[in-house]
Amino acid sequence: KLFYFIFFSLSLKYSLKYFLTATSGLPDFPEFVASASVNGVQVGYCDSNIRTAEPTQDWMKKLVKDDPQHLDWYSEKCFGNQQVFRANIDSLKQRLNQTRGPYILQRMNGCEWDDETEEIKGFNQYGYNGEDFIALDLQTLTWIAPKPQAVITKLKWDAEKARLEHNKNYYINRCPGWLKKYVKYGRSFLQRSVLPSVSLLQRSPSVVSCHATGFYPHRARMFWRKDEEEFHDGVDKGQILPNHDGSFQMSVQLNVSSIKPEDWSRHDCVFQLAGAETDIITKLDKKVIQTNSVSLSEFPVGPVVGAAVGVLLLLAVFGFFIWKRNSHGEIQLIFPLNLMIIEVHPPILRYSSG
Ligand SMILES: *[C@@H]1O[C@H](CO)[C@@H](O)[C@H](O)[C@H]1NC(C)=O
Ligand SMILES: *[C@@H]1O[C@H](CO)[C@@H](O)[C@H](O)[C@H]1NC(C)=O
Repeated sequence: KLFYFIFFSLSLKYSLKYFLTATSGLPDFPEFVASASVNGVQVGYCDSNIRTAEPTQDWMKKLVKDDPQHLDWYSEKCFGNQQVFRANIDSLKQRLNQTRGPYILQRMNGCEWDDETEEIKGFNQYGYNGEDFIALDLQTLTWIAPKPQAVITKLKWDAEKARLEHNKNYYINRCPGWLKKYVKYGRSFLQRSVLPSVSLLQRSPSVVSCHATGFYPHRARMFWRKDEEEFHDGVDKGQILPNHDGSFQMSVQLNVSSIKPEDWSRHDCVFQLAGAETDIITKLDKKVIQTNSVSLSEFPVGPVVGAAVGVLLLLAVFGFFIWKRNSHGEIQLIFPLNLMIIEVHPPILRYSSG
């Protein structure tokens, strides 16, 4: 799973990621949406309705104030890519003989950098109508087509040597150069290490959730132990979700129905933050479980939200999302950080929580 794999594997210390999405045949959705994120936090956004790139973090606002051309460059790219993506959709539509929409083309590209090892990684991959389409292999400087329908594109793009060289230079020099600049401006924000507050919540009569919120960075791990041994039976791991303030939350649920009362104290929940020396260990104890249920996400996850307003809010706040085909062949809009899923039955967008 080329396309989705990279999203979840953050191996190096800093990352700069761009998410570009063009759609056709989705009336409630902007034709083009692009966002930039540093370490999973959105730093810039543009779409075909607002037409200019906007910084979305205070330190990014300071950067573009010092260097207004930087923002101009993004605004130009946003507009230029909108045209390129539209043309790509048109030619794919024709070549694949697709007469019915919606048509959705996405690109996720960027780079990772580790300031200690100086290691750099670049990536550039496309998805079409909810499936992996094509990805650039920077080692061999060739395009990889996981599906037969992308082979023509691959052959065409492989022949564009000047563009490949430009790509290589971009991912090896320019992208990490910018990432370093962003890290310089956002240093105190990006290099902070904040432990969360952890609490036990009664989710249902049989389920206790260990919930951590407010941590940063988003490289963290959480699990349940019995007698200090990690176990997975009856455990449901949640995803890392973003908070409004640039921190993150996550939870791990335990089915307690088959745990004998005298065995409760043998269980605990462990939270580990990358780079932090101490773990947060919380004993499973009936006395500390909070029963009033706390909303896991601050965002509206209603069963049905027909209006585009909710979707636009989510796009502008998260920026990053992927379209994916489910097992029934339907295309869904997914916000990977919190696994929120929006089913698309044009012209209506529907929410469901995943
Ligand atoms: C394109 O689709 C139409 C209608 O489904 C079909 O009649 C035609 O043969 C297709 N053409 C190609 C080149 O696949
Ligand atoms: C918890 O486990 C019990 C027994 O194994 C099972 O019957 C029940 O459905 C589980 N509850 C949940 C919410 O998974």
